[in-house]
Amino acid sequence: MIALRVTDLRVAYGQVVAVHDLSLTIEAGDALVLLGPNGAGKTSAVEAIVGLLPKRRGKVEFFGEDISAMNTSAIVRKGLALVPQWRELFPTFSVEETLIAATTAADKREPKSLESIYDLFPVLQARRQQLAGSLSGGEQQMLAIGRALVANPKLLLLDEPSSGLASGVMRTLIQAIKRIRQSGVAILLVEQNMEIARSVGDRCCMLAAGTLAWQGPMQEAIKHDEAARIYFGDTRA
Ligand SMILES: Nc1ncnc2c1ncn2[C@@H]1O[C@H](COP(=O)(O)OP(=O)(O)OP(=O)(O)O)[C@@H](O)[C@H]1O
Ligand SMILES: [Mg+2]
Repeated sequence: MIALRVTDLRVAYGQVVAVHDLSLTIEAGDALVLLGPNGAGKTSAVEAIVGLLPKRRGKVEFFGEDISAMNTSAIVRKGLALVPQWRELFPTFSVEETLIAATTAADKREPKSLESIYDLFPVLQARRQQLAGSLSGGEQQMLAIGRALVANPKLLLLDEPSSGLASGVMRTLIQAIKRIRQSGVAILLVEQNMEIARSVGDRCCMLAAGTLAWQGPMQEAIKHDEAARIYFGDTRA
């Protein structure tokens, strides 16, 4: 079953086209990595998919249903959750308040228990009374992921969860993302970090200047060093 099908998605800021007619699909339970250098259009694409940015054209289907014209809260209630690149937590909410507030987004699906989030990220349990604004960068990223998971999504979009984080925290995040995926949630991971990309994704799409430059199995991408070609214009065969 196809969890997400994006067809000819175009996103623009005024005259500047950030995403040119992007098409991609994710099977239910699969993990797809969207790779590309700074400014490639990755955030623009995922924000348009979840209705945070207007689409100039194109179609987004979620488990066969056309969600192109739906607003973000309706899309989240369907089971498609985004962990935004800049985390966007309420700094004066505690960890626990942040998670409880997110349970309403589960709508007719059963919300995930706070215990299951704390099981995934034990540090959040230890910090549950602490204000989100006073958490470390890594803890904030864990809370942002936890908040999205509470809504019990069928597909989780993660926009560069590793940005600005030390490698120790990154390993914790990789393990958590793998566990989320093993629990049956499909993943669309936006990444520039190849280590994370290869340990999470089965397939990858590479965006360059808003255009889909390559897509295929992660193993093929690594074997042919596609990332080097797309990031640095390397033309080795
Ligand atoms: N609000 C905006 N107004 C105008 N142009 C924008 C806006 N947001 C993004 N852009 C432009 O759209 C293009 C794609 O940006 P986007 O943030 O989607 O890239 P990205 O692949 O997510 O980059 P990064 O890896 O740095 O997060 C860039 O050229 C950027 O300057
Ligand atoms: Mg981005």
